[in-house]
Amino acid sequence: MPSPPTRRTLAPPKFPAMSTAPKNTPAPSRRDFLKHSSALAVGGSIAASFGSLPTVHAQGSEAINVALIGCGGRGSGAAINAMKADPNNRLTVMCDLFPDRMTEARKRLQTQLDQQFRVTDDTAFTGFDGYKRVMESDAKVVLLCTTPHFRPLHLKAAIDAGKHVFCEKPVAVDAPGVRSVMQTSEEAKKKGLAIVSGLCWRYDYAVRETVKRIQDGAIGDIIAIQENYLTSTLWQRPRQPQWSEMEYQIRNWIYYTWLSGDHTVEQHIHSLDKAMWLMGDTPPVAAYGMGGRQVRTEPDFGNIYDHHAVVYEWPKVRVFAFTRQMAGQKMFNETDDYIFGTTGQARILQNEITGPNAWKYPREQKRNDPSMYDIEHAELFKSIKDGNPINNGHYMCLSTMLAILGRMATYTGQRITWDDALNSKLDLTPASYEWGDVKLPPEALAVAMPGKTTLT
Ligand SMILES: NC(=O)c1ccc[n+]([C@@H]2O[C@H](COP(=O)([O-])OP(=O)(O)OC[C@H]3O[C@@H](n4cnc5c(N)ncnc54)[C@H](O)[C@@H]3O)[C@@H](O)[C@H]2O)c1
Repeated sequence: MPSPPTRRTLAPPKFPAMSTAPKNTPAPSRRDFLKHSSALAVGGSIAASFGSLPTVHAQGSEAINVALIGCGGRGSGAAINAMKADPNNRLTVMCDLFPDRMTEARKRLQTQLDQQFRVTDDTAFTGFDGYKRVMESDAKVVLLCTTPHFRPLHLKAAIDAGKHVFCEKPVAVDAPGVRSVMQTSEEAKKKGLAIVSGLCWRYDYAVRETVKRIQDGAIGDIIAIQENYLTSTLWQRPRQPQWSEMEYQIRNWIYYTWLSGDHTVEQHIHSLDKAMWLMGDTPPVAAYGMGGRQVRTEPDFGNIYDHHAVVYEWPKVRVFAFTRQMAGQKMFNETDDYIFGTTGQARILQNEITGPNAWKYPREQKRNDPSMYDIEHAELFKSIKDGNPINNGHYMCLSTMLAILGRMATYTGQRITWDDALNSKLDLTPASYEWGDVKLPPEALAVAMPGKTTLT
């Protein structure tokens, strides 16, 4: 099995001091998106009404071939969203690490996509190198929906091969990965290739309107933001005797920092991304925090924490970010963003503003809005057809790095500056991708211990 390319040599990207950013309803659960997509696809009529989605499809418009890498829950949902974007689109290639996941997903998608499903035995690839075959295929657009660890490698390969990309979040699990994706995103710009990010709230009409009103001054100047992602536990796939350690970890990727980045990177990123958006897509100065592993302590739960609380410092604003994955009776669970301004307040996922400029997104309109997952793909394909490809590279890297900075702060117990985090050499890439043991230093697989764990 070939060794993965090293990313240690890449220089950190230069983030502009200020960018003009384009201007959370419970957070998307990993169960909801598929349910939603499937419900919309009932009867095989994926090409049904697009509601108020941007119009992509013109009479006789080009058929676009699409490839999916990572055929799990989100990947299957994304494939459906991509087919709904234009009835001429076709899913022609699929790739998953595991043959059983591939078989399940092929059956599911064949039923749901009907005529738009064109994958054959010759265009269904498995294994660590399967993505390379995808890049040689006729697909014009690639959906990157694997476990986050592989995103920098797959994104680079896709852009090198001249593909447009839909890129799930997070885009990396460590700073070298973020630096790699930043460079790849710049390369995509030069080549005129689209990269649409799976940070889906930026595509939700009601959230966009709420954020725009805040940016237009509806609550005065922002003083503080509180991000809550307090939620229950997720799935676990029981260890099988025939699985190597590598297979166990990849099948249970959410519990391993090297694969998911920890849940504060993999899941809480949706909240942190909204804070980043409201901060004009500029990085904070530093962060500190605390976290730990209190409930999910057994070795089969890998090495991630089950709670994190982080303070992010911008020059004039503090962001207080809380996330927890625990289950039990009477737990207080909530996912929302509280924005405190000099003249008012807002809750992003409630789509509401209080104070002198009180406002709420109309419920009726919200009911009729298309799903943000459909909007992402409608806008992606429209941008390709218009010859004006969307590139979300800048903010998807900033928000991923923001989440990684928070993890570094809780794992080490230190106050860590943005620059130190971004320049970190901690590379969570194993020495090789092959079935057997995971070839990472023991400290990268251990549970972090504040006061002892260091950044590099
Ligand atoms: N935007 C959202 O709302 C949202 C929701 C859920 C998940 N996600 C993201 O989507 C991604 C996938 O999550 P999921 O819930 O579908 O997980 P999943 O475990 O259901 O699916 C991941 C799939 O990727 C495959 N895979 C892993 N490594 C691979 C490789 N090297 N090559 C090919 N295939 C590989 C796995 O075998 C698996 O089938 C994650 O990054 C997750 O954070 C986003």
